[in-house]
Amino acid sequence: MAKHIEIPKWAEHVTLNIGCGSGMPLMDRARQQITGKHLFIGIDVDHERIRHGQLLVKGARLENVHLAEADAKAIPLPNKSVHVVQTELLFSRLDYDKLSRREWMADHARSTRVVLDEIARVLKPGGKLEFYDTNEWGSEQGLRALLADKRFRFVKGWQETPYVITVSEAKLPILLRNISEGVPLFRSPAYSFRLMFVKK
Ligand SMILES: C[S@@+](CC[C@H](N)C(=O)[O-])C[C@H]1O[C@@H](n2cnc3c(N)ncnc32)[C@H](O)[C@@H]1O
Repeated sequence: MAKHIEIPKWAEHVTLNIGCGSGMPLMDRARQQITGKHLFIGIDVDHERIRHGQLLVKGARLENVHLAEADAKAIPLPNKSVHVVQTELLFSRLDYDKLSRREWMADHARSTRVVLDEIARVLKPGGKLEFYDTNEWGSEQGLRALLADKRFRFVKGWQETPYVITVSEAKLPILLRNISEGVPLFRSPAYSFRLMFVKK
């Protein structure tokens, strides 16, 4: 596990992708910013996925990407050091691989709280949290916790392909109303959603 990730001096903008897997979506974004001073950090608790991603980064000579093995519950970055945090299919799978289904469901509220504390800690004031997930139980718990968290303000939902079609803007209010009224997410009008929050 990485104890501390050094942010190089040239990096004027830092994006952190938590639960990045082998980091392919992150690398695609980094390729578009290669000439800028934009650093893309990906962390994941899974050793094999990170190792695989590190080899891909090296092969592609992406010097603006840094992947590290780390737990979302103990992010090895300083306070207020990140401009954008992205979680993509993280809350639906948070600590999923190491627990039985029963343990996972019992632990999810606690681990979600710790991860939100960590995100709030590393984000700069005014920094963005991009939350992408599917309408599964774990992401529903994550989204409920996030919408109730006074440190974050909901900004918008938006569609970003190429990976998946997310909830349309027209249907977003239905999704948010369902959440506030306790309607399970699987009854909502989209399989997946991409929402932006700002750290106050
Ligand atoms: C469904 S995969 C998504 C991977 C990638 N974000 C994507 O969209 O392709 C979920 C990832 O979250 C990671 N994960 C689960 N719990 C984690 C934790 N506590 N800290 C860091 N990563 C975690 C898993 O190892 C896995 O790679």
